[in-house]
Amino acid sequence: MRILGIETSCDETGVAVYDTERGLLAHALHSQVALHADYGGVVPELASRDHVRKLLPLIDSVRAEAGGGVPDGVAYTAGPGLVGALLVGASAAAGLGLAWDVPVIGVHHMEGHLLSPMLEDDPPAFPFVALLVSGGHTLLVEVAGVGRYRILGSSVDDAVGEAFDKTAKLLGLGYPGGPALAALAESGDPGRFAFPRPMTDRPGLDFSFSGLKTAVLLAARDAGETAYADVARGFEEAVVDTLAIKCARALDATGAGRLVVAGGVGANRRLRARLRALADERGAGLHFPRPAFCTDNGAMIAYAGSLRLGEGTPPPAPARARARWPLDELCPPMNHRGTEAQGYGNGSDR
Ligand code: KG4
Ligand code: ZN
Repeated sequence: MRILGIETSCDETGVAVYDTERGLLAHALHSQVALHADYGGVVPELASRDHVRKLLPLIDSVRAEAGGGVPDGVAYTAGPGLVGALLVGASAAAGLGLAWDVPVIGVHHMEGHLLSPMLEDDPPAFPFVALLVSGGHTLLVEVAGVGRYRILGSSVDDAVGEAFDKTAKLLGLGYPGGPALAALAESGDPGRFAFPRPMTDRPGLDFSFSGLKTAVLLAARDAGETAYADVARGFEEAVVDTLAIKCARALDATGAGRLVVAGGVGANRRLRARLRALADERGAGLHFPRPAFCTDNGAMIAYAGSLRLGEGTPPPAPARARARWPLDELCPPMNHRGTEAQGYGNGSDR
């Protein structure tokens, strides 16, 4: 079965073709970074318009690279994300589904991230703990199977990617802030600033990053611009430490022997090294997508769509997009691993 995947939830237009026999056949990404750079962040209306301009040509070129032909289904990101941007992908998918007479399925963006390590050579077996760290979400999830998700912890304020972006901004770095801050931190002194490791001094698996951001703001103001690399390094160390402490706790709490890390911040080199050390210490498995598939992409949507379409008849698919969509509203795909034939979630917020 061959699935066309479409991702337009934020500032990247991603398209891919995934074949359940042959794997990923083609994928491409158009980044809107240059478009939003002058504004220091994503401008939703500009994002939607750029998806309109770029999506169909990208679909044409990815389909050609995949050998042409009509796919057996179309998967698109239905949420969570910027609703105008989501609707571009949803409408294109609905139109293509009608034109080709193939099923269309709306995929949960975070499920896409969560399953993205499955595209690698050494895919994780279930069950595992997933750390999902993106611009909009910070989640620890116990994953028993596809659609069998229990949220163990989440951020009570800023998402970790958002904290990277805001901290980068206050250090005068451009958008997107995460990679820029990580690059500046390379030359920083890890010992100069000891920032808090928020919410690690009490039990629990939730996160909070807004206080850390304030601590960084005060330190940067006091120490001045010459100290910015050290501040960046101190911030990165604090975030990486905090995430590692919570991952260890989640592995203890669930007894899971595998950790999966995905989402844009999963591309962070220091986080990857730290979690590698943690997993090795504990004899646990560790799975990341390749860095290009940590950030938003069409491949993860095509893959998640292939699992859901492959397991049963999809529900009717109007052009649907949800700006907010809790991950734990999802159910397993129909007939997946036994008897839970409950369909694909029942929540609705618009
Ligand atoms: O998953 P993603 O591409 O989009 C969302 O679904 O939000 O994640 C984007 C986030 C941004 O906040 C970006 O700054 C962050 O991931 N990010 C990084 C790195 N690469 C991307 N943060 C830290 N280090 C990186 N190398
Ligand atoms: Zn994402």
